[in-house]
Amino acid sequence: MDTRLTVIGTGYLGATHAICMAVLGYEVLGVDVDADKIDRLRSGELPFFEPGLPELLTKAIESGRLRFGTSFAAAAEFGDVHFICVGTPQQKGSDAADLSYVDAAVHALAPHLTRRALVVGKSTVPVGTAARLTELLRELAPAGPEVELAWNPEFLREGFAVDDTMRPNRLVFGVASEWARDRLHAAFRPIIDGGAPVVVTDLATAELVKVAANSFLATKISYINAMAEVCEATGADVQDLAAALAYDDRIGGRFLQPGLGFGGGCLPKDIRAFAHRAEEIGVGHAVAFLREVDAINGRRRARTVELVRELLGGDLAGFEVAVLGAAFKPNSDDIRDAPALEVARTMHGQGAKVRVYDPAAMPNAQRAYPELRYGANAFDVARDADAVVLLTEWAEFREIDPEAMGRVVRRRRIFDGRHALDADWWRAAGWEYRALGRA
Ligand code: UGA
Repeated sequence: MDTRLTVIGTGYLGATHAICMAVLGYEVLGVDVDADKIDRLRSGELPFFEPGLPELLTKAIESGRLRFGTSFAAAAEFGDVHFICVGTPQQKGSDAADLSYVDAAVHALAPHLTRRALVVGKSTVPVGTAARLTELLRELAPAGPEVELAWNPEFLREGFAVDDTMRPNRLVFGVASEWARDRLHAAFRPIIDGGAPVVVTDLATAELVKVAANSFLATKISYINAMAEVCEATGADVQDLAAALAYDDRIGGRFLQPGLGFGGGCLPKDIRAFAHRAEEIGVGHAVAFLREVDAINGRRRARTVELVRELLGGDLAGFEVAVLGAAFKPNSDDIRDAPALEVARTMHGQGAKVRVYDPAAMPNAQRAYPELRYGANAFDVARDADAVVLLTEWAEFREIDPEAMGRVVRRRRIFDGRHALDADWWRAAGWEYRALGRA
């Protein structure tokens, strides 16, 4: 493949993109300002948990096609297409996205761009950012208008990052010229040949596709969780309700799983940033419902604490509570805006003696919340517990034998925050079983 790629920002998104592109046959240079991260990647160590990716990192390094560095001058010299993959977290004290890393990446790269090149934004940004960055690139790059900007939003899910990158359900190319479109085609040739459909748009539409997709997914989750609130008030069962809705393929069952709701580094901050940006440009009313989507999601966390308190007889103080799960979802070690940890911390704040176990997120959780106690496995944290609270639906928790766990706890009380367990099985083993949205 003669198109040479650079990937600026080697976090979750960038590292995955760089590794997969090298495996697909491209020469790739990954660049980051964090020298420590670069050293780890160079030595074949992936700084985060993602099934299948460590093996591909080794393979890519061994192929000689993947290199890492910290020099933007070297990146400009090396690459024909430069992917910007830095984070856009929520700003402190505001719902807006923090664009400082995106801006810093452009400021660092552009002054070295002395020949025709394509800069491709992959980060999730407020609509209008690409137009602003186009101007900035023209100003800062010695090659001036020879340097073009395109937007190529990324839809990968943590836990499925390799598959989502190698076999995406679509590629979106936001471009301002045919040349940029052709460059992007060249940069994704094997994936397009593999059957991925390409949607070519303008820059603003490409920026919007990403936030519109995440907003839709968040809305679907909050929709079923709003139904759970109604079920709780009426004695109906949200699991059965969701199952019945899912048979209608216009509705579909995916992202209709009721429970503790969404978290992570994407959905929560993306819907807030979108609502904020829409307000800025005078169309806040169009997406005002996203505020309610966020509020429904927050209420599930509060309701979980309330139901565990009820399970314990009205007070959390002094009770031993075993928490199963810390990551924002299974098959991830990511604890950003993790519903499980927010619930654990609230219960701890109300006097419960909380012990947490997660199959992958323990180091991250311990670093972020040293005030919580942790255990070595599910049975370890459940020892002498007055209640067991399942908050992230890892497969290993589904397989727990309620009889065996019943022998280590003080009281057989289980709260299933993710509808992950077979309620009948647990009840048959003498457990008091509670879940959101169910009688
Ligand atoms: C999400 C999107 O799914 C990706 O398409 C997107 O690329 C990514 O954000 C991003 O913006 O980078 P991710 O954050 O990895 O991916 O996680 P999801 O699998 O979407 O799950 C999000 C949250 O929703 C999790 O906390 C999960 O537990 C929750 N969820 C999901 C539910 O509560 N119910 C469901 O039915 C589905």
